[in-house]
Amino acid sequence: MIEVKNISKSFISPKKYPGLKGTIKGLFSNEKVEKVAVNDISFSIGEGEIVGYIGSNGAGKSTTIKMMTGIMVPTSGSCLVNGVDPCKKRNENAKNIGVVFGQRTQLWWDLPLSESFTILKEIYDVSDEAYEERMEFLNKVLELNEFFDKPVRTLSLGQRMRADLGAALLHNPKVLYLDEPTIGLDLVVKENIREAIKEINEKYKTTVILTTHDIGDIEELCRRIIIIDKGTKIYDGTLEHLKEIYGTKRSISVEVRQYDKVKDIAFDELLQVEKDAYETEYDGEKSVFTISFDKRKIKVPQILSILMERVDVKDVRIEETQLEEIVKQIYLEQKEQAVEELEAAANE
Ligand SMILES: Nc1ncnc2c1ncn2[C@@H]1O[C@H](COP(=O)(O)OP(=O)(O)OP(=O)(O)O)[C@@H](O)[C@H]1O
Ligand SMILES: [Mg+2]
Repeated sequence: MIEVKNISKSFISPKKYPGLKGTIKGLFSNEKVEKVAVNDISFSIGEGEIVGYIGSNGAGKSTTIKMMTGIMVPTSGSCLVNGVDPCKKRNENAKNIGVVFGQRTQLWWDLPLSESFTILKEIYDVSDEAYEERMEFLNKVLELNEFFDKPVRTLSLGQRMRADLGAALLHNPKVLYLDEPTIGLDLVVKENIREAIKEINEKYKTTVILTTHDIGDIEELCRRIIIIDKGTKIYDGTLEHLKEIYGTKRSISVEVRQYDKVKDIAFDELLQVEKDAYETEYDGEKSVFTISFDKRKIKVPQILSILMERVDVKDVRIEETQLEEIVKQIYLEQKEQAVEELEAAANE
């Protein structure tokens, strides 16, 4: 459905100098700097997939989406969406895709939403019959009726996002691009938007590419994620696999009445591991003892049997590293690596 091959995008902008003097100097200087926003990225996405496209601020997510939608021309590389080059055949491509940029609306600000929809119906050449059917579905999943006659500028953020999503889907596109579709929304609206995306994907096999900073979106919607950092792809695979390779921590929390007994357990000797293979914590107020460890070195049943044998355990909770932690760790690692590279370059 989507074939992105070695796509890159650089921006050339005037060199900036610090301070007011610098600003003035900049005005008279011809020096330019090149910023590589997307650097040689390739991937392909099949029909009906929902792919999370994630990375820290400025990583190049929106730039990639813009190239895939045909808004921006790549500096090099190619992109095909349903067999169409989005930059060369913009009209043909427009029929295949729907786009939502969470940061700004695609709708006519002063017009009632209903009129925006009528205009889009004409633009996309949607038949009356198809329109009726489509609206019925969109009303069901996005509840647009609530505010269908209000001007877009009077809508709340959550309503506007539902309206934008509805508008992007009116012509039943094969591919839906969502750039931060849940940004700034409360939990309930977020959940509604996610449900709507799920339903659309299931019912129409719509391919969805979604950028987000909300790990909840990813966990609920995407089986596959692509992570980019400073314009380069650093991961492309399933969420489970990512958790497997990065999520090496487990923790077990048990509610115990006799902490004295737990305190004296020599886990390192019993498990024959180094002391730094695990960490323990005790919350006196809740009588909860927590032990966190590397799952490659220690197994959950080992800990449980040690505890069960020695103390009366009331309640047990086992947790894996949260995806949020994993993503944070990946972003941090990339940052550290970059700093190291810079330092190495400076020392040369
Ligand atoms: N039109 C432009 N002119 C110059 N530089 C740009 C332009 N658009 C983006 N950039 C730069 O390219 C880089 C990538 O930007 P992009 O908007 O793709 O990031 P992003 O991953 O979407 O980030 P965020 O999570 O903050 O939305 C940034 O350094 C940005 O400043
Ligand atoms: Mg962005």
